[in-house]
Amino acid sequence: MSEQTIAAMRTTSEIVKLARQRLDQNAWDYLTGGAETETTLLRNRQALDEIAFRPRVLNNVSDIDLSREFLGMKMRLPVFLAPIGGLQQICPNGGGLPALKAAEDFGILSILSSVTEPGMDVAKAEVKSPLGYQLYVHGDDAWVFDILDQVQALGFVAFCLTVDTAIYSRRERDLIKGHTPRGRQRAGLDRDYQAKLDWDQIDRIRDKCKVALVAKGIATAEDARLAVEHGIDIVYISNHGGRQLDHGRGAIAVLPEVVEAVDGKAKVVVDGGFVRGTDIIKAIALGADAVGIGKLYGWGLAAGGQEGVARVLDILEEEMQVSMGLLGANALDKLTPAHLYRDARPVRAPSVTSGFPHIKFPDFDY
Ligand SMILES: Cc1cc2nc3c(=O)[nH]c(=O)nc-3n(C[C@H](O)[C@H](O)[C@H](O)COP(=O)(O)O)c2cc1C
Repeated sequence: MSEQTIAAMRTTSEIVKLARQRLDQNAWDYLTGGAETETTLLRNRQALDEIAFRPRVLNNVSDIDLSREFLGMKMRLPVFLAPIGGLQQICPNGGGLPALKAAEDFGILSILSSVTEPGMDVAKAEVKSPLGYQLYVHGDDAWVFDILDQVQALGFVAFCLTVDTAIYSRRERDLIKGHTPRGRQRAGLDRDYQAKLDWDQIDRIRDKCKVALVAKGIATAEDARLAVEHGIDIVYISNHGGRQLDHGRGAIAVLPEVVEAVDGKAKVVVDGGFVRGTDIIKAIALGADAVGIGKLYGWGLAAGGQEGVARVLDILEEEMQVSMGLLGANALDKLTPAHLYRDARPVRAPSVTSGFPHIKFPDFDY
């Protein structure tokens, strides 16, 4: 597929379709699938589809500002690239680096996964704009502090601990095929530490951490309150894109109770199922400071490397521009819950690609 073809694509649907064509079944399942029955994954979309807009008119929307200050960066959109491990399976040529570069060129933050290529040194050498670093806790305090020292010395702006992976979930697409994704094959990691992680260890990390500390994988008001009490700077609502606990709630459904519990004492970000400009707007209206995208940029990367991710971000921006204008809001801080009706009936059944209903593709979802 020539570069020109990606540049000419007008919709993310076309990009996702190209990603499906380019990825083999194992890579597609790794990127797109979830845990067990994939109910959590589907609820991410369903919960977004249960929110309708209450547009306001006659508000002069000739000039719309979508930018937001976040972690010291003026981001062009209130969006960041969520950490994705194993991106070398999706993009053998550079792993996650083309995505980081696309985000930098576009003007948004990325959080680098600790289990992807490139490693932290290469990422920081190649990308000059702010980056966060995500870690799965696979070791004792000394192990974590050693990584934290490197993260701080290299100048990452945030240290993101993923807390929804105490135990690796049952990914049935992989189990049925007998396939072990490459990230799972890494030797020398003590996975028991993830199960042992608790608030006491968070306190010890908090004491040492001089950059913004992020708890990724919060799914209740109770844990959001605890996170604030334990000094977390950014409460990151996530169900890991439906890849961990099955039968969870859709991520955006959790947002109101967490925003209320946090009560302005920390930043609140969310990810899970966000693939459209309208999705981002809904989260911002409910009080999120920023929204993470995962699979969406993974599909962009699979379809066209750096250019694919860049095109995804451009389209997301255009979608947001159009919808903000039609909603009657010319800046993000004008969005409020009053722009939303939260009891709408979804018009279609959720599926892993139900955000792209115009694609007709045999066996598309699988
Ligand atoms: C292929 C894949 C790998 C992921 N790897 C990581 C990871 O290494 N660390 C992490 O904290 N989250 C990881 N996640 C979860 C994402 O950070 C994010 O929470 C999720 O993708 C958001 O949902 P979405 O894909 O529907 O946007 C991964 C997600 C995917 C799709």
